[in-house]
Amino acid sequence: MSEDRFLRYEKCNTEIYVCKEYIENSNSINECLDSYVCKENFQLKPYIQKNGFRSITAPNFLPDTADIAASDDLIRIDEVAKVFPSKKYKNEGTEQEALTAVQMALKMKNLHKFEKAQKLFQHALALQPLHPDILNHYGEFLEEKENNIIKADHLYVRALTVSPQHSRALVNRKRTLPVVDELDEQELERIDRKRIELIQLNHNNPSLKRVKKEIYFQHIYHTVAIEGNTMTLSETRTVVETRMSVPGKSVVEHNEILGLESALRYINKTLVNKDKIAVLDILAIHKRVLGHVDPIEAGSFRQNQVFVGEHIPPLASDVVYLMEEFVDWLQSDSMLQLHPVKQAALAHYKLVYIHPFVDGNGRTARLLMNMILMRNGYPPVIIRKQDRSLYYNAIQLANEGDVRPFVRFIAHCTECTLNVYLHAQEYGAKCLMALEQPKKQDYSDIIAI
Ligand SMILES: *[C@@H]1O[C@H](CO)[C@@H](O)[C@H](O)[C@H]1NC(C)=O
Repeated sequence: MSEDRFLRYEKCNTEIYVCKEYIENSNSINECLDSYVCKENFQLKPYIQKNGFRSITAPNFLPDTADIAASDDLIRIDEVAKVFPSKKYKNEGTEQEALTAVQMALKMKNLHKFEKAQKLFQHALALQPLHPDILNHYGEFLEEKENNIIKADHLYVRALTVSPQHSRALVNRKRTLPVVDELDEQELERIDRKRIELIQLNHNNPSLKRVKKEIYFQHIYHTVAIEGNTMTLSETRTVVETRMSVPGKSVVEHNEILGLESALRYINKTLVNKDKIAVLDILAIHKRVLGHVDPIEAGSFRQNQVFVGEHIPPLASDVVYLMEEFVDWLQSDSMLQLHPVKQAALAHYKLVYIHPFVDGNGRTARLLMNMILMRNGYPPVIIRKQDRSLYYNAIQLANEGDVRPFVRFIAHCTECTLNVYLHAQEYGAKCLMALEQPKKQDYSDIIAI
């Protein structure tokens, strides 16, 4: 691999724009990057520190180890197959059919028949999912008639990803970008206010201690459940607290829980206050996630090409180099000037993009994300099992060139987790209810992107 190729690979990746063609054909990265100029539009805004929020020393958000009875048994884990949603952008109809549907949609829009118009736009997009004019028209409709600027903005970005010179999409995007940026910033400010509120609570208070413990188990439960582990919350709790086995559940499922817990403790003990994070630290997290016993995969990078749904991660021979670049980037000035939630989300995204391991990439990425949050004085964030498809969908949108929906999703999860800490004592606190009763959908609580 030539150095030149790496440089350009990194250049685009740092700007969080992944070459789409490269995903489709892992050999064509040179041509792809030759044709692509990273755009300023895709860069994330730096974080302006307000009121020295970051300088406040945060308490530890994990429960005391003494509160969780457990030994340090060696464990073994096998990975369950991961299923990424396979959303193909296959044209289901001809361009002519699709454009006819758009014409009808525009007619309906003029006649104020918005529901019909919406259906026709969706139909047109199903026929030609990546047609820039259709994306742009639908975006305009959502912006004007549904007041959904975030989704409209995303559609303009998508139109521009397909057709970078699309003049109407460029104009539209120029208008929506600052509005969407502002909305995203407002959420981060809310998050910071809630974090301050949380820090200022009395952390010796028994009920807050109970909440921390509760969230600790929730965290483990959701992060393994999202990958298909079938243990319930109370079973998860039993496994962690007693190390006893739950009848009817496989050894693998037990080990996933114990491995995750061991990784969390390791992060809390060793990495939260460590000066510089190294590649070895990420391997050490992974080693715990997959268990200490598996000498082949745990704590080592993959040797072969893997395929994750439609995502084709970089070549196995590039992984070591990319991971070294990755940890440098984690600690680079351009990264550190971002809001911690953005840093955490980007680190998560980039790790699953590189996909350095055969198994356990998602869990390691979530732990790494939480390590970054904890290092910055934020509590670890729960990605709920029931938000799995939103989560994978946001990762896919990032692979397609727009990382902001993923960052936004992580911000929503952060806010939701903070709400649980702050309001767990209140009967019916929304995010808590949704954590505890993942089957009962509470639509007012859905973390929409
Ligand atoms: C996390 O770290 C804190 C501070 O060192 C410690 O008191 C606590 O027991 C740890 N909790 C876990 C679960 O590792």
